[in-house]
Amino acid sequence: MALCCRRRGRAEGVALKKNLVRGVLIVAVIALLAGCAKDAPQDALDPAGPLARQADRLWDLVFAIAVVIFVLVEGALLFALFKFRRKPGREAAQFHGNKTVEVVLTAVPAMILAFIAVPTVSTILDQSREPEGALPVTVNARQFWFRFQYPDYNVVTANELHIPVQTPVRLTLEGMQDDVIHSFWVPRLAGKQDVVPGRETHLLLEADEPGTYLGQCAELCGIGHGYMRVRVVAQTQADFDRWVADQRLRAREPESDEEKAGAEVFAQTCTACHQIYEGGSKVDDSSLQGPNLTHFASRKTFAGSLFDLDEANLADWLRDPPAVKPGSKMPDYELSEEQIDQLVAYLMSLE
Ligand code: CUA
Repeated sequence: MALCCRRRGRAEGVALKKNLVRGVLIVAVIALLAGCAKDAPQDALDPAGPLARQADRLWDLVFAIAVVIFVLVEGALLFALFKFRRKPGREAAQFHGNKTVEVVLTAVPAMILAFIAVPTVSTILDQSREPEGALPVTVNARQFWFRFQYPDYNVVTANELHIPVQTPVRLTLEGMQDDVIHSFWVPRLAGKQDVVPGRETHLLLEADEPGTYLGQCAELCGIGHGYMRVRVVAQTQADFDRWVADQRLRAREPESDEEKAGAEVFAQTCTACHQIYEGGSKVDDSSLQGPNLTHFASRKTFAGSLFDLDEANLADWLRDPPAVKPGSKMPDYELSEEQIDQLVAYLMSLE
């Protein structure tokens, strides 16, 4: 009887282990297949500009070579494991060193690396040039949002980088002294580039077609890292020019009583970190802790592009920023519901 129970217990243990293994396998396969999702917004395998395409071609080449090496090496390993496996009466050969094998095993990888280096170095050099007619944009990264300054136009905005299509855009990424390392990455348009405090780095990007291209800070930079998003809005030259002209307009004056009251709340509560430039935009406001809000309502998103810009989302945000975006540097100012409504009315008027 006891023996029977012990056996049953062992059988149950084995079944449990089998189920566990099966469960882990299923989860692993799902995770793996998620990588094949169609129309993923940040899919680098679907490049949308010449620079991203160039990087993609290099990746395809290196990946193909890596697959061939993988198959050859693993094949040789499996062959050796099978062919020379332990058999009764067989003894392993005893020898020390083999010059031919050592020379071949050094020379072949060196040749492969030298071969890969040619397209790699030429791509790196090509992507670090300064093309003529490129649009210069300075990027600041802060916990947890991006600022974009257009020195040619005296325009500064946040989170949404507007660019004209079929024009190379040369980003100068300036890391803020009092901030941490971030990384700017919009996979469909360009490679990835760190934004390092006290340093200046560069990145070229370009889009073929009008559209919105999503990106994400790609360097773990604190608790809000996952919420530090970016979107590139590629427009026809005419639309881009119109956007620039709108951004250069004077900030809209509050009209209704509610908007005026909101402007008051703003002046008392928000101006330590945010500004509204009455005479239009101002290009260098790097010292500001928060984005300038001169044309806030012209943006589609806010708070590191985390939320769609609408009245309900904005009210939730103003009620308690860190509650809706963990790590937000903007504290809860314990505004009354009336003050929140006034601020929302004012901010949403700033087109
Ligand atoms: Cu900024 Cu991660």
